[in-house]
Amino acid sequence: MDQDLLRARYGDDIPEAAALNDVLRLLINHRSCRHFTDEPLPPGLIEALIAAAQSAATSSNTQTFSVVVVEDAARRARLAELSNRQAFIAQAPVFLCWVADSSRLYRMGERHQQKLEGLDYLESFIVAAVDAALAAQNCVIAAESMGLGTVYVGGLRSKPEDVARELALPQGAVALFGMSMGWPEPARAGAIKPRLPQQVVLHREQYGVAGEAEAVARYDQALAAFSESQGMGPQAWTPRMLSRVGTPQALSGRHRMVEMLRNLGFPLK
Ligand SMILES: Cc1cc2nc3c(=O)[nH]c(=O)nc-3n(C[C@H](O)[C@H](O)[C@H](O)COP(=O)(O)O)c2cc1C
Repeated sequence: MDQDLLRARYGDDIPEAAALNDVLRLLINHRSCRHFTDEPLPPGLIEALIAAAQSAATSSNTQTFSVVVVEDAARRARLAELSNRQAFIAQAPVFLCWVADSSRLYRMGERHQQKLEGLDYLESFIVAAVDAALAAQNCVIAAESMGLGTVYVGGLRSKPEDVARELALPQGAVALFGMSMGWPEPARAGAIKPRLPQQVVLHREQYGVAGEAEAVARYDQALAAFSESQGMGPQAWTPRMLSRVGTPQALSGRHRMVEMLRNLGFPLK
């Protein structure tokens, strides 16, 4: 059973892992979900998930993230439009927008008539972005433990100024990514997608690249077989990555991110 899970995650490159417990099994069993039923979430479930999100570690307890939960169908449709028209955003009952949020501390500074100059630096944006990501991933794990499905939506960064207007975000707050959430359509719940062999990710004591090309070639084969099994054709990793980050245009408008963040109140000094 555990070997099957690890095989699904790593193909033939199964690591010699210690025995798994239920939490590890849940984590290794992750798959993004892009097909949802229209059943709503029961009352209080969002609040329980956000309690898990807020329980993540946070840099110096700054808690520089917020989340805007969007259930209104018309607003979800508008956010889908702003996020490269991904259909599941309108389909799933809930869309969470994860916000790197320095605005709360800026407001605290104003209340105390103190300019919080440290917030103007790139470091503070990184702190907020890391905090938001950690909270969001705790939320994903908690949601999956309840049988919910989720998928992150980086497309929410394609038009951040428009998204900020839609969500009424103050200056110093930016929606970093979205997350569709709901009950998975059982027949289309998704499958475990193989990851890179640990050999190229896990380094001991110092970074090493020996064997990387061969391991990536094996992963190309595993991912192509997976894609084919999912009806998407034999898409290997290497060509996908070469085109995903090959040109500024491939960033889908997000090559303007520094300018967009400055417009949204992050000076990034
Ligand atoms: C920050 C972030 C943004 C993502 N954005 C999208 C997206 O816009 N659309 C989408 O279908 N999947 C998106 N994904 C999901 C990834 O494609 C997915 O996690 C990856 O292919 C691995 O598949 P798995 O989650 O099923 O293991 C995103 C994932 C992350 C972490």
